[in-house]
Amino acid sequence: MSQKIFIKTFGCQMNEYDSNRIYDTVKKIGFEKTENYEEANCYLLNTCHIRDKAKEKVYHEIGRVKKNFRSKNKPLVIIAGCVAQAENQEMLNREPYIDLVIGPQSYHKINKIILDYNKKRKKVEETEFDTIAKFDYFSKLKNQSCEASSFLTIQEGCDKFCHFCVVPYTRGPEYSRPYKQIIDEAKSLVDNGTKEIILLGQNVNAYNNNKYRLSDLLLEIEKLPGVERIRYTTSHPKDMTDDLIEVYKYSKKLMPLIHLPIQSGSNKILSLMNRKHTIHDYISIFNRLKEINSEIEFSSDFIIGYPGESEKDFEETIKLIKKIKFINSYSFIFSPRPGTVAANLDLIDKKISTERLKKIQNQLFENQTIKNKALENKTLNVLAENLTEDKTQVFGRSEHMTSVIFDGKKSDIGKILTVRIKKSNRRTLFGEIINDSNKKVA
Ligand code: SAM
Ligand code: SF4
Ligand code: F3S
Repeated sequence: MSQKIFIKTFGCQMNEYDSNRIYDTVKKIGFEKTENYEEANCYLLNTCHIRDKAKEKVYHEIGRVKKNFRSKNKPLVIIAGCVAQAENQEMLNREPYIDLVIGPQSYHKINKIILDYNKKRKKVEETEFDTIAKFDYFSKLKNQSCEASSFLTIQEGCDKFCHFCVVPYTRGPEYSRPYKQIIDEAKSLVDNGTKEIILLGQNVNAYNNNKYRLSDLLLEIEKLPGVERIRYTTSHPKDMTDDLIEVYKYSKKLMPLIHLPIQSGSNKILSLMNRKHTIHDYISIFNRLKEINSEIEFSSDFIIGYPGESEKDFEETIKLIKKIKFINSYSFIFSPRPGTVAANLDLIDKKISTERLKKIQNQLFENQTIKNKALENKTLNVLAENLTEDKTQVFGRSEHMTSVIFDGKKSDIGKILTVRIKKSNRRTLFGEIINDSNKKVA
């Protein structure tokens, strides 16, 4: 009899990719996916540790499951992801409802761990960094994702050790998957109907395997018949090498949006963060790319209120935002993470950081609203990705990744349509299809 698994995913796109691959794996031992967690025999939580309260969020979630399953058979409860890696055995000690704890580089072992648990009922935490074996295993298993836009992890881990960040501890050292493994997986995604491939890595542009770089992968993947669009995320400014910048001159399918986190507009703060790049480096990348294609847009991440951030540092961040006019950005107040260099630094006043966050978001949101407004009455190429939640319209994304909603039908999904924008707000464009000939419109 088949068993049902419910997977809930927090955190970044890499966790989403992992959740899909975990599902491809557990299918082999008879699990089927369910969207209704109350009918699950196995409840798997794929967790994120990037900011505070991450751990508490997991225990809270488990508390909710426990309550709802009170009168039913207890599901097998698995904690995966970055909190699993960081907390390991501690989670089993603190919450007896949890059965298994599996870190991000051990997912290839998940079937054996589940089967052993079913036999011996012995709780296990598995948090070894075994990235090569994980991807060797995944590469032998077909990636079943059949979305119009699919993720493909090409690189994991990080050696940069920014002073605020847990990723080097939860994902381990930098590792780049073999080139051929990636091309084969891209082919299989296209066979499943994928039109857009988003290459992923915590430092995706640090990709380096046997001298193959991200630029080589981009140019090879765009040759695959059926691929219409390629994106990559998340990049580090230090790894925006000449070859990668040059790709924008030649590539026909690389989308003109770069998510390039800068974190702060102040060189002093960047140095305190151990970011290994300056504002000058960032602006020169921006200028070079704009020179190649003025349509290229930037999005970014900001940390507000990092220890030592003065009013002057903050004003420099505002100035940078006004200059680059980011199309979209994520901004959060600095959150001290256990085990990182910045964990014990003196925090700046909470009221001040909250005010600064508000100011920064106002500036970012204003840019976004203006950019979206300027698209009204223009026509855009939109990849139709899905029906909207209420199933009455179609949801897609522009070349700059902005959400576009329009009247359409299920059969539009997977097509690149020409859509005229009629209305906009900060987050979304609303339009109408003017043809579906897949032709590029200026
Ligand atoms: N590798 C990417 C880079 O270097 O830009 C970032 C990856 S990290 C998973 C995503 C974002 O989380 C970071 O860009 C940063 O803005 C944010 N972040 C990480 N640690 C944080 C912390 N301790 N407090 C607040 N935000 C944090
Ligand atoms: Fe974290 Fe810095 Fe590595 Fe990005 S580069 S994952 S922010 S340590
Ligand atoms: Fe979170 Fe881990 Fe991604 S900490 S942001 S799930 S790499």
